[in-house]
Amino acid sequence: MRAAAPGNPARLRRPLPSPVPPHPLDARITAERARNYRQVLARRVQRLVVVVEDCFDPHNATAILRTCDACGIHRVLVTTARNAFRVSERVSQGVERYLDLRVLPGIEAAADWLRARGYRIIVSDLAAEAVVGPQALRAQLASAPLAVVFGNEGHGISERARALADGCFLLPMCGFAQSLNLSVSVAMTLQALRGEELAADAPGDLPAEEQIATYDLWVRRYCGEAAPAPAGAPATDHRGAPVIEYRA
Ligand SMILES: C[S@@+](CC[C@H](N)C(=O)[O-])C[C@H]1O[C@@H](n2cnc3c(N)ncnc32)[C@H](O)[C@@H]1O
Repeated sequence: MRAAAPGNPARLRRPLPSPVPPHPLDARITAERARNYRQVLARRVQRLVVVVEDCFDPHNATAILRTCDACGIHRVLVTTARNAFRVSERVSQGVERYLDLRVLPGIEAAADWLRARGYRIIVSDLAAEAVVGPQALRAQLASAPLAVVFGNEGHGISERARALADGCFLLPMCGFAQSLNLSVSVAMTLQALRGEELAADAPGDLPAEEQIATYDLWVRRYCGEAAPAPAGAPATDHRGAPVIEYRA
């Protein structure tokens, strides 16, 4: 199946400058697809990374990827120490092909990757005593790249993630539920952190060379000259529905 063109043109309100030059394969894709690729890349951010620890439910995994794509998040790290990360290709609208999805064996490997690139690591921790809403992270994000870590549906974040983190936050709640659904908490956090930029249709921060390299990958994938997606394997979920399974 060919990947959908990312970026509904109706949502890209104005043309942003793109550093991506003409590509040798441009003649094999439509002008609209080429424009959408460039315009989506022009809005992508690398300053904010989403980390998902041991997500179990394919519906959550898929919703998280769609939310990240919609909010301009370029890079998603998933750890699969206990559970494979399973994405429903039918529901994902193919967004996994257009994210820098990295599958790592555990939170240590994710933390190493992030530290080497200067990220502060903040976990969403329901057990935290201090109630720090994600809005408070906006100032931190302005001064340093930030990785926000989300935990498993049943157990929440691991003790190891808590120990490795620079800080924590909580989406304040005032109802009877003990927690939010995992994918909902990702969406609410990204809206708090990115909502203003999204409303302003602001440019992202992906360096020119990364936009160019990613454009090359997307075009080659679309033309069948590169692997169609990050390396995942076909599998089924607990209801027998087809999913793509990612394991480190
Ligand atoms: C269903 S919750 C896990 C509940 C688990 N029993 C616990 O106590 O952590 C799954 C994940 O969603 C995120 N989450 C859920 N509610 C949240 C909230 N109010 N604030 C921040 N993150 C939340 C966290 O990342 C959490 O690890």
